[in-house]
Amino acid sequence: MERCAVLSVHTEEPGRLTRRYGSPALLAAREQVAGWMAAAGLAVRRDAAGNLFGRRDGATAGAPTLLLGSHLDSVRDAGNYDGPLGVLTALACAEALAERAEPLPFAVEVVAFADEEGLRFHTMYLGSSAVAGSFDPAWLDWTDDDGVTLATAMREIGGDPAAIDSARWAGGPLLGWTEVHIEQGPVLEGLDLPVGVVTGIVAQTKIAIRFTGEAGHAGTLPMDRRRDAFCAAAEATLACEAHARTTDGLVATVGQVAVSPGAANVVPGMVHLSLDVRHPDNEVLAGACRTMRERSEAIASERGVAVSWETLHDHPAMPSDAGLSGALERAVVAAGLPVQRLPSGAGHDAAALAAIGPTAMLFVRCAGGISHNPAESVAEEDVAVAIEVLDRFVDDLMMTG
Ligand code: HGY
Ligand code: MN
Ligand code: MN
Repeated sequence: MERCAVLSVHTEEPGRLTRRYGSPALLAAREQVAGWMAAAGLAVRRDAAGNLFGRRDGATAGAPTLLLGSHLDSVRDAGNYDGPLGVLTALACAEALAERAEPLPFAVEVVAFADEEGLRFHTMYLGSSAVAGSFDPAWLDWTDDDGVTLATAMREIGGDPAAIDSARWAGGPLLGWTEVHIEQGPVLEGLDLPVGVVTGIVAQTKIAIRFTGEAGHAGTLPMDRRRDAFCAAAEATLACEAHARTTDGLVATVGQVAVSPGAANVVPGMVHLSLDVRHPDNEVLAGACRTMRERSEAIASERGVAVSWETLHDHPAMPSDAGLSGALERAVVAAGLPVQRLPSGAGHDAAALAAIGPTAMLFVRCAGGISHNPAESVAEEDVAVAIEVLDRFVDDLMMTG
């Protein structure tokens, strides 16, 4: 908990926590964690994407590796736990391993991904995609709001865009990836349970939409002559919301809006929107995105506005691995708690890492289910339970893995 507080000091914005990929704040947080890893006797390395790893070798060469961790970047005006809690519980687990007498039949590697949220470049799972080998080199040319490319940001934290392929996992057989994360929802709190085992991650699509109308004078352009891009965008946003409200399990969010030219006395000529759509079922999600696109195009056309629709990311639903999740469940039982399974509506690095190995997740109760918000809060006792479950999980894998 103290370490989570220490990391929260590393922010780009005074008075609130914002830690984007490639920023000095991200670099400082990463180096803080690297120092803790080194002090714990872990072998520290950083990859071409800027991810950080701290490794404790297994007793024999060629032993498989268990990856434990989470991410160090944040959303804008974030809480202290989304990401760091998973890195630091993994570190606590690796520290406890040093005190064990018996040899480790596998290596344990603590991972701190440099970008999961994608705040700066609208990416998804940037860090883990590099490790999974699914990093798209086209992303390197994407720019942030100030025109800085992703490649430049990568270099600023010591990464190497030209060598991004070298970040792909090359450490031999993987036992898998396991992440501790705050639930970011109210289920565990409602059940009065400290932890739960994640059944899988919902399917998610991220879309960039552009409405192009015509800018004009706010005082002289009659209402019936306008091609107002913002009014089209607003109506389309409400249509997406209405579709999500009437489709079971569907969520749709417009979280970013940029209006051009952006002056109080100018009719908006162009609007960029971000649209994030999620559902547990891949087919339902694809159908919903089609419907939202058709509705947006119809609304724009009625208003004489052009619309372009670009799917930036499309991640299918990702079930957790039954074997690893079973080991987590036995660890929960060994800690004296009932097993609660629950799905994740939030995206996590497991969605990318499942391409290279089994994945599982343990959720920790968070107050009010609040997340992506500075009010994010976890109880120290619940974090202690999560660390105990992680320790028992490693015990279980030592016997069964
Ligand atoms: O957006 C998400 O679901 C995650 O927090 N990155
Ligand atoms: Mn998050
Ligand atoms: Mn997270």
